[in-house]
Amino acid sequence: MQIACVGVVGCGLMGSGIAEVVARAGSDVVVVEADEVAAKAGLARIEKSVDTAVARGKLDAATGERVLGQLRVVSDFDALADRQLVIEAVPEVEQLKVATFKRLDDVVEHGDAVLASNTSSIPIMKLAMATRRPEHVLGLHFFNPVPVLPLVELVTSLLTGSDAAARAVSFAEDSLGKCVIRSQDRAGFIVNALLIPYLLSAIRMLESGFASAGDIDTGMVQGCAHPMGPLALTDLIGLDTTMAVAESLYTEFKEPLYAPPPMLSRMVEAGLLGRKTGRGFFDYER
Ligand code: 3HC
Repeated sequence: MQIACVGVVGCGLMGSGIAEVVARAGSDVVVVEADEVAAKAGLARIEKSVDTAVARGKLDAATGERVLGQLRVVSDFDALADRQLVIEAVPEVEQLKVATFKRLDDVVEHGDAVLASNTSSIPIMKLAMATRRPEHVLGLHFFNPVPVLPLVELVTSLLTGSDAAARAVSFAEDSLGKCVIRSQDRAGFIVNALLIPYLLSAIRMLESGFASAGDIDTGMVQGCAHPMGPLALTDLIGLDTTMAVAESLYTEFKEPLYAPPPMLSRMVEAGLLGRKTGRGFFDYER
């Protein structure tokens, strides 16, 4: 079955980017948000990104219009009924993701539809077991900003069928033009298992007074040619998401290197979540 009708659950930072790249690839996309207000904000996020792509010459204006014409952002979960692939991108909260997979299992009618999660860290088996079709559940993990970064991690659980995995890989590589790497079903998969301890180390360095936020980031940009420093990257990912990923990793492996430092916990409690709230380790115009 060629995947032409795709659903995305959640239109935040990741969901909006995923919906945009899927529509750019020519698929019909339905995005579901929790309510009308969130749906409107999600569509505005996609429009802004498409406008940026057009302004920077990455898309021509006609293609930009076509992309927006292929997308619907709605608040009705039942609109996912006819989808051949659904990519879940709700916040990184296990109960929320489990509840979403239960609903997807009830609503999606295609018997062999692929139900994918963009989770950054939650083991896919926990989501698969919320459904009656674990052989069709897998992880398709995109990277932020989704229209810019080429990587997708494919995560298969012990119960994922080879047919669902093959269709997901073919969609990500051939339709979306992404670079796919495969990971076992362990919290954090490949990239976050490596990235998160690095980000947490930078936060511990700042917390201990070892160096300033600016100098820590300049060190990695100017000394190691990273496109951005670890604290700016944490601001981009969102401090809440970074903390949630760290907690999943810590729960899975019980290694101190994954434990969120108190400074991160306090900033999340204070609502200093990074770019999306205008303040994290650095300040941003909103
Ligand atoms: N569509 C298409 N292209 C776009 C675009 C859009 N909406 N927005 C920006 N671009 C293009 C720009 O045109 C530019 O292309 P060019 O180099 O060919 O001119 C390129 O993207 C870079 O954009 P900018 O010039 O606006 O900005 P910067 O050069 O400062 O780069 C950045 C910004 C892309 C965020 C870069 O700093 C970067 O790659 N940072 C690292 C991001 C990263 O590591 N992300 C992974 C996070 S971890 C994650 O997501 C996993 C999760 O589970 C936690």
